[in-house]
Parts: sequence; C-alpha cells; structure tokens
Amino acid sequence: MAISPPAPRAGAPLSRRLADTQSSPVRELLETAMQPHIISLAGGLPAPDTFDVPGLRAAFDEVLSGPDAIRSLQYSLTEGDPALREQLAAFMAKSGIEATGHDILVTTGSQQALGLIASALCDPGDTILVEDPTYLAALQTFQLADVNAVPIPGDDDGPDPEALIEVARRTGAKAAYLIPTFQNPTGRTMPLARRAALAEAAATAGLWLIEDDPYSALRLDGEPVDLLAAQPAARDRTIVIQTLSKVLSPGLRIGYLRAPKALRGPLAVAKQAADLHTSTVAQLAAERWLASHDLSEHIAGLAAHYRPRRDALLAALGEHLPEGSSMTSPEGGLFVWVTLPDGHDAEEILPRALANGVAFVPGKYFYAGEPVKETLRVSFATATPAELAEGAARLGAAIIG
Ligand SMILES: Cc1ncc(COP(=O)(O)O)c(C=O)c1O
Repeated sequence: MAISPPAPRAGAPLSRRLADTQSSPVRELLETAMQPHIISLAGGLPAPDTFDVPGLRAAFDEVLSGPDAIRSLQYSLTEGDPALREQLAAFMAKSGIEATGHDILVTTGSQQALGLIASALCDPGDTILVEDPTYLAALQTFQLADVNAVPIPGDDDGPDPEALIEVARRTGAKAAYLIPTFQNPTGRTMPLARRAALAEAAATAGLWLIEDDPYSALRLDGEPVDLLAAQPAARDRTIVIQTLSKVLSPGLRIGYLRAPKALRGPLAVAKQAADLHTSTVAQLAAERWLASHDLSEHIAGLAAHYRPRRDALLAALGEHLPEGSSMTSPEGGLFVWVTLPDGHDAEEILPRALANGVAFVPGKYFYAGEPVKETLRVSFATATPAELAEGAARLGAAIIG
C-alpha cells in the first residue's frame, strides 16, 4: 500500500507579542496621503527641502575618499564613533545636560532607543507609564516588548505628579515615558514647574524617566525650557533620547541617548544584541557634517522654514474649524492637536476629508487609554503655507459634511 506524504502544515503561529502589535495606521494613511491631489497634514516627516544634500554628499565623500574610508565600511564600536559621541554630547549640553562623549550611546534612530530601553528595563508583563495621548510608535515598541503602557491622568501642562505616584504604586511600573517638549502628537510643552514636580514625583515613586526629545531643537519662538533630565531630582533617573532625524536627516538613522550610569552597561548590551552598532559610514558622515557646519545655525534656518507654515496652519484652522473647536498653539515641533466640539468623530470625518483632498490623523490612534474621538493631529511639516491654508479649508468642509 502506498503511503501518502503528510499533508503540508501551515507554519507555527506568530508570537503573541507580534500578533498583539498593530501595524501603524499612520503608515497606511501616509501611503494614501501621498497621492498628488491630496494635501497631507498627516505625516510628521521633516520638510525635504530642508535637507542639506550638497553638505551631506560632501561629508560622505570626505569619509569615503579619505583615510577613514576602510574604517567607515568596517564593523565598529557598539557605543558609537567616539568623535560623533563628543559632537552629540556637546549638542545635548545646550539643553542644560552635562554630558561627555563617554555618556552617549549612539542608536539607530531614537526609535531603536525606545526598544533598547524597554528590553533593558522590563520583563514581559511589566508596565511603563505614558502620557495620553502619546507617540504611536512608542506604544508599538512597548507592545512588541510585551510591556503594558498605562496612561497617567493629566492636564494641558502634562501628567499630574500625584497621579503619577498613584498609578506607579498601583501598577508597579518601572518607568514613565514622557515627551516634555513639543510633544507628538499634541505639540504641547510641559512648563518648568511641572517638570520639577514630575521629577520629584518620579523620585518618590522610584521610577526611571524616559525623556524622548526629538523636537526641542525645533523651537520656532518663545524661551527654551531646560530638559526634564536637568531637574535635580531627575538627573540620576532619566534616560534622555535625542536624534538627528528632525534637525539633519531621518534617513541617516542617527539617534542617541544619555543614561544614568547604572543603565549604561545594560543598554550597551541590549544594543549589541539588537544590531551590534549603528551604521559606521552614516556615523562618520554625520560626524564630518557636524564638524564642518554650525548645527545651531542650520536649525535657525529650519525654524525660519517651519515658522510661516505653522502660522499659516494655525490661522487657517482658526478660520475653518467649527465653532467650539480648540487647538494647541505650539512654539515648536511639527504638530498641532485639534479637539472638535462634542459629538464629532474624527475617524468618521477622515474618508470625507480624503475625498476632499486633505489627510490628517484621527487622534484615537495615539491613546493608550480611552480614546477621545473628537481629537485629530495635523502637521505643518511638509506642505507650503498656501497648501496648508487650502488643506485647513478642505478639512473644515469635510467636518461640516
Ligand atoms: C516622539 C518621537 N520619538 C521618536 C521618534 C523616532 O525618530 P527617529 O527614530 O527617526 O529618531 C519620533 C519620530 O517621529 C517621534 O515623534
């Protein structure tokens, strides 16, 4: 009797962690928003016309045609290129943080830093406290690490310090993840007094603080506020994450962090396991660019680019949003957060908006807790002032229906 071969079996099921991790709805929306007839207020990509293509080409040329060519194509140190780390520490020091190159770990974008921190600090099932709403891809990273993201109640100035202590005690949280300056998605900035109170509260609750800071350099007006990590009570418990993505180029994938001493070794081990090190050639080119340009001057140019765009969007939203709407008025970053009058549902409005030729992101995706359906995120990053004005008019028309 012929023996028939066993029936083919499907592969084993995916890990629970991956099955539970949502693909970012923003990515899918961004694909739709790329159609030429759509004005996109959805993305948070830096304006392409701000990229210093000749400067970066010269930096890569210098690396690849000079004595560092072979080194740039070789494996390198997990912590990052020493000269680049010095440059990044000097830049971080401008935000009120004492840092030397030794304190810096270079990461593959600041996104990687979030994953390294989650795996260094947390076991599966542990908790990290978050603002609500917060950065969508941080929620994804925590999900993938099987870490619960639990919202901290708060107000327009940020999480409430008493609530931080209470939620930390109730959940046994390991850390709080905060974006104190020009937050994504709201554009809000925590005032200094709230930073000080949160630092004290984190100390009382024995929490690590994760300060994600991609946007503070993109200040368009107003006075700079020192980082949360500069607060005396926060100094020894805060991991500060910054990035070259918003000030130079996200394609370089150069992020960096400064961690309290006790976490430096563990984070370097996590980095080694993740990808050994960040691209050597990208690091050396970034270092050459930083050595031959004044980053602060370059950033002043970015602010001059974004300022009229922010102003155009705020003015047009003020004109076209229905009465009873509110919006943030950010002094920097790339985002404005809109709250429509009670009863509106931003997700229901989105198909009408796309049909009208404008894209935005419904706010519900950014919540770890109960979403507020009236909210939405718009960005002034990539459109021209005229397009932003037209986009806001189309949005207003879509809201009315
Ligand atoms: C709050 C926040 N954190 C981290 C990132 C990731 O940036 P990158 O990995 O390019 O440094 C972003 C990008 O939009 C962001 O908005």
